[in-house]
Amino acid sequence: MANVVVFGSQWGDEGKGKIVDMLAEDAAAIVRFQGGNNAGHTLVVAGEKCILHLIPSGVLHPGKACLIGNGVVLDPEVFLKEIEVLAQKGVETSPARLMVSKKTHIIMPYHRLMDNCRENALDDAGKIGTTGRGIGPCYEDKMHRCGVRAADLADPELLREKIKLALNEKNVLFEHLYGVEPLDPERVFQDVLPLAERMKPYLGDVSGAIQKAEAEGFVLFEGAQGTHLDIDHGTYPFVTSSNTVTGNAASGSGCGPRKLDRIIAIVKAYTTRVGGGPFPTELLDEIGNRLQDKGGEFGATTGRRRRCGWMDMVVLRESARLNTPTELAVTKLDVLSGLKELKICTAYKYRGELMEYPPQEQNGMAHVEPVYESLSGWEEDISGVTAWADLPDAAKAYLERLEELSGVPVGLVSVGPDRVQTFTRG
Ligand code: GDP
Ligand code: IMO
Ligand code: MG
Repeated sequence: MANVVVFGSQWGDEGKGKIVDMLAEDAAAIVRFQGGNNAGHTLVVAGEKCILHLIPSGVLHPGKACLIGNGVVLDPEVFLKEIEVLAQKGVETSPARLMVSKKTHIIMPYHRLMDNCRENALDDAGKIGTTGRGIGPCYEDKMHRCGVRAADLADPELLREKIKLALNEKNVLFEHLYGVEPLDPERVFQDVLPLAERMKPYLGDVSGAIQKAEAEGFVLFEGAQGTHLDIDHGTYPFVTSSNTVTGNAASGSGCGPRKLDRIIAIVKAYTTRVGGGPFPTELLDEIGNRLQDKGGEFGATTGRRRRCGWMDMVVLRESARLNTPTELAVTKLDVLSGLKELKICTAYKYRGELMEYPPQEQNGMAHVEPVYESLSGWEEDISGVTAWADLPDAAKAYLERLEELSGVPVGLVSVGPDRVQTFTRG
């Protein structure tokens, strides 16, 4: 059966968790392939809300294998806590169904400290507004080839040595550049050891587990963050530290690119962004506040207010080019109900030229002027709609325009947070 990749096409929080949870029912395994607990994926089942940061969003479906690939950065404390909370809700979280790749890099306490030191040292305009979870510094160590990998948790002497080496360098920065207390390597080691012990049963060969799952059904790859937060293709430097684009579903999990078949772009019906960085269609007015309130736009990880704006087709067009989606899943369409007029940004004006794709210079997006077209809104509450045919004409026209401008068909429409508030394109 065809494998499925779900990815965020904007700046994250598009509703990936909800769609993954919904599709997981028929999957053999669900795999996270990048990012870490900077992600916050919200699932609502029968009115009950569950926010996941690390564990794949298929976990609420009994028996499905949930895999964490080599491309993820994993904080053991958060992983073990998440398991505990799920277990209290009666969700099965044993190693029989949950696996972390032995090649996954581990977020250490010094990564979290470094993340916060770096952010605090930046002036307001330069702040990335990271989630403070140690994501960037952990990926830095991976690339620097001095990172701690999950397999090292089962090798205490190697772990002790790696911590010592890492802190040799980082303590100089902590003490002399950032003016904070240096960390004692032995203390860090002793603190991590009990967590390492608890992690051991979960370590495995995720590439092998994917191969096995494919014999039973399809594999569902769950993206985190969004395309415009990608380390290479996003609004650098206001990005996260991993490749969020779909190509990484293969390398971040240990399978080949020919294994990726159906690719679903999750698109929020408007745009949001949390943290710093350019946002051409941002609305700093009453309409922005209204989207924020009605959409409940608060970060699922940090609780920060999400910035809100109109749909940006330059952003979506670029996502289509980078990710080759086979379909769009448009979420939060219900939030647009009641607006008389809807605007869609179709292009940017940049240095006197009209552009269909984002400029590639650093911070170029901060200097574009969005070109808008206007569509009629609709009054009706659509949160109870269960079929394409029952959508108001104006809502259908809005979605059809997104199809035309992106060149990608709509496959799924979401009109509320609950698993069941979703239907296919008629
Ligand atoms: P993710 O990071 O992409 O998984 O998205 P988040 O969970 O961070 O944010 C999406 C938010 O929108 C969550 O609170 C979801 O429960 C909610 N949500 C998802 N789809 C819909 C929808 O169609 N309508 C409404 N009103 N809320 C939705
Ligand atoms: P999900 O998976 C939205 C943003 C942060 C910050 C930047 C870098 O829920 O869509 P980091 O901690 O990764 O170094 O922060 O990226 N960011 C997200 N924004 N959704 C997310 O994840 C995000 N993960 C990181 O706000 O601007
Ligand atoms: Mg989120």
